[in-house]
Amino acid sequence: MKPLRLDSKLPQVGTTIFTVMSQMAAEHGAINLSQGFPDYDGPAALKEAVKRHLDGGFNQYPPMAGVLPLREAVAAKVLDCYGARVSPETEVTITPGATEAIYCAITAIVRPGDEVILFDPAYDSYEPAVTLAQGKPVRLPLAPPAYRIDWQRVADSLTPRTRMIVVNSPHNPTGTVMSAEDLATLAELAERHDLIVVSDEVYEHLVFDGRRHESVLRYPALAARSFAVSSFGKTYHVTGWKTGYCVAPAALTTELRRVHQFVTFVGITPIQLGLAEFMRAHPEHLRELPAFYQAKRDVFNAAMAASRFRFVPSAGTYFQLADYGAISDLPDREFAAWLTREVGVAAIPVSVFYETPPDARYVRFCFCKNDDTLRAAAAKLAAL
Ligand SMILES: Cc1ncc(COP(=O)(O)O)c(C=O)c1O
Repeated sequence: MKPLRLDSKLPQVGTTIFTVMSQMAAEHGAINLSQGFPDYDGPAALKEAVKRHLDGGFNQYPPMAGVLPLREAVAAKVLDCYGARVSPETEVTITPGATEAIYCAITAIVRPGDEVILFDPAYDSYEPAVTLAQGKPVRLPLAPPAYRIDWQRVADSLTPRTRMIVVNSPHNPTGTVMSAEDLATLAELAERHDLIVVSDEVYEHLVFDGRRHESVLRYPALAARSFAVSSFGKTYHVTGWKTGYCVAPAALTTELRRVHQFVTFVGITPIQLGLAEFMRAHPEHLRELPAFYQAKRDVFNAAMAASRFRFVPSAGTYFQLADYGAISDLPDREFAAWLTREVGVAAIPVSVFYETPPDARYVRFCFCKNDDTLRAAAAKLAAL
């Protein structure tokens, strides 16, 4: 038999650490604070709405851009939250998860050799999308413990080939949020250098201590050159439904849909209709979400105060970074494996989010778990 010629286009990509750690947690019966999914269910009324549409025969392809009632609900929401007036017909697209929206936005815009500014650490889906588009990822460090964007460094890194910048606030894994000043600087640089922005805002409603989420949609000059991406999975505790959306000006949306049409074409009809109905009937869900997750952060951090982990309370997301330098000298992957096996708590080693990890000892704990789960995990961690 003739040997198969196969050169991987993504040779660096293996099984994601999220799968690895969740499997290890299951094997060792550890409390799983690694992968970011709740151990509680989405709202009963939301599930009822989806079931009703499923039983009502809404089981064929929806329109390519998503069912209109859900696009209208998203338009109403961004007007209410950010004062942004967007067209449900031409500026909102429903996608199978935020990941697909991000992939389509990058694929639609980035050409071979284009440079794309990504931060280090960053969510793991951005870089492979840039690489597959034959773009060049340019990773700029966010330095611990504050993890702020060094805008001077961003400005210094821009070249005539820079086409796009990908920002993420609230930020996974660090739990930091961008300020109004950050957005003003981003707007100024993006306009001056004619950059397109992908703004990953999947944790837009998980912002704590009275802070306000700084969406690109609040700022018209920025919104005019941005893909703003979010995820119903995070907002409604249904990560397994893989449903998200992208808001972008009509010209950018046209390009996004040209790719989306041939990646997945559509999402799932009864889920989209159920989400639309629930969003209309329960606007309070969004208002209550920050307090819901802040309380979880506080339950976990109060119990962790007795531990030798050091941490700055997360400002957003459902993740808490913790410095384990006072407990162990192990590199973070080994520490996370040891923690899962020997202590019975699974966490994510933060180096997996980096191209160039700093010499620091951090793991990421996920606090979208029942309070009893959080207290039980923190009790084990406090014993170290
Ligand atoms: C920063 C960030 N962006 C995007 C996603 C993916 O969202 P979705 O499940 O809707 O594709 C996640 C999920 O963990 C995330 O943390």
